[in-house]
Amino acid sequence: LHQGRHGRTAYHFQPAKNWMNDPNGPFYHNGMYHFFYQYNPHGPTFGTGKLSWGHSVSGDLVNWAFLGTALDPTSPFDAKGCWSGSATTMPDGRLAILYTGLDADDVQVQNVAFAKNPSDLLLREWDKPSFNPIVPQPADITRNNFRDPTTAWLGRDGLWRFAVAAEVAGVGSTVIYRSADFITWERNAAPLHAAPGVPCWECPDFFPVVEHGTEGLDTSANGPGVRHVLKLSKAANEDYYVVGWYNDGADTFSPVEEGERGGDVRNWRRIDHGHLFGAKSFFDARKNRRVLWAWVDETDGSSYDGAKGWTGIQSFPRALWLDTDGKQLVQWPVEEIETLRRKRVALLGKEVGSGELHEIAGIETLQADVQVVFEIPNLEDAEQLDPKWLQHPQKLCAEKGATVEGGVGPFGLIVMASGDMQEQTTVFFRVFKHDDAYKVLMCTDLTRSSTKEGVQKPVYAGFVDVDVEKDKCISLRTLIDHSVIESFGGGGRTCITARVYPEHVATGSSHLYVFNNGLHAVKVPKLEAWELATASVNVEDDGLNAL
Ligand code: FRU
Repeated sequence: LHQGRHGRTAYHFQPAKNWMNDPNGPFYHNGMYHFFYQYNPHGPTFGTGKLSWGHSVSGDLVNWAFLGTALDPTSPFDAKGCWSGSATTMPDGRLAILYTGLDADDVQVQNVAFAKNPSDLLLREWDKPSFNPIVPQPADITRNNFRDPTTAWLGRDGLWRFAVAAEVAGVGSTVIYRSADFITWERNAAPLHAAPGVPCWECPDFFPVVEHGTEGLDTSANGPGVRHVLKLSKAANEDYYVVGWYNDGADTFSPVEEGERGGDVRNWRRIDHGHLFGAKSFFDARKNRRVLWAWVDETDGSSYDGAKGWTGIQSFPRALWLDTDGKQLVQWPVEEIETLRRKRVALLGKEVGSGELHEIAGIETLQADVQVVFEIPNLEDAEQLDPKWLQHPQKLCAEKGATVEGGVGPFGLIVMASGDMQEQTTVFFRVFKHDDAYKVLMCTDLTRSSTKEGVQKPVYAGFVDVDVEKDKCISLRTLIDHSVIESFGGGGRTCITARVYPEHVATGSSHLYVFNNGLHAVKVPKLEAWELATASVNVEDDGLNAL
């Protein structure tokens, strides 16, 4: 399990070797999930001038077979790279990819490719028509920022639309193109969104969610009871979103949140408060849900030197839906992860006293799924929140780490701990009093995650938008997979993904604990931890047999 893995994950998506960045064009078709990604077939570093679309398929979003590359930089309109984009499944049966080509002159343009034979199960072959680019770079684009087309959707006028990130005369914008035939595209005069004073943000995602419920919607869905989500990616490693109303007549989008929160992209909500980028969702008709992928880059320097021979993983696919507050998204690992569950251990009705540490023994915790509920009997001693921290949860967490005794909390998990506790990562909550209510802070603290030099060891944090006074408890789910820790606080309202590179895992086993450094005991009505099996993910010699 341990030796020779060098941080390779057991159930997160990654290629057998080489470089991977953004998720591209996920879709479900004919009983098969297709997933593409920015991929350098020639080596483990960002392939300047060389990026292809890697292509893998799966029957269950857990086990994957690598099919090679679907798009390669072989045409004048993508000679320097097949960059990010999305797939669209059309009512007439066609399957299209819209993607950015870095053309022979290094200019970013938008291209289309069609599945050669949509009834072929594996869809290995994609046709890049010679009439590309379908959208050359417009004259008002500045600094060559024009990329990452979304999945297209049909307006009620029968026209297709896609959104693309663009810097228009210096302004970071999300621009819309329309087409009747998917081939001739015309730009809307007004962008869907523009952020004066903010440079171009990348990888837009734009999709509908139901106002009430957890089911997903086809990307073209609209009408009563539907909201839309606009997501943009800010280099490096921060994805932001806002929920709003989309009018498909005028192609306008207005955030539901008032003031700064909705108005300024820098104040939008975070998809994840950790290290995650380029999120892209698709509608999964098989299970009637919307599923999100995102790139999780290395933080040990290997993105630059490719030392491990592979670089980059994807977050475990997450179902997502709109919370009952109508403003925030809820994200949750897709249920198929449960097929990997093996040995289970549980704690039921355990009280964790002030200053106590309790080991969860009996399973291999390097590849595990941990779910825990903390019951907070008494909020009286919650510390007062200095409002200056409201915009800076990360700094607050750095100041008040897991060992700094608080009123209510810190309590949470210690994961990937070495026997001597020299290496450990904490994922925890701390409850503050704020005005007449309470604020829950969630942190993942990597400062002691590894004894290795040269790896990033930040503190990640975000507030969790839950009513702790009413609920009297707060939940945490943490997925541990060798070099990644993905945590979902408050039922998936706040997510924190982190890459970790502990040294002890090469030779020793890892430990898992619950801890409480608050003033009073907290109750753990239920903690369950499952050891997870290793999925078959792009194993070279296994290939399609794994499915
Ligand atoms: C984001 C990004 C995209 C671009 C792609 C190239 O990580 O810069 O904007 O299309 O990567 O690999």
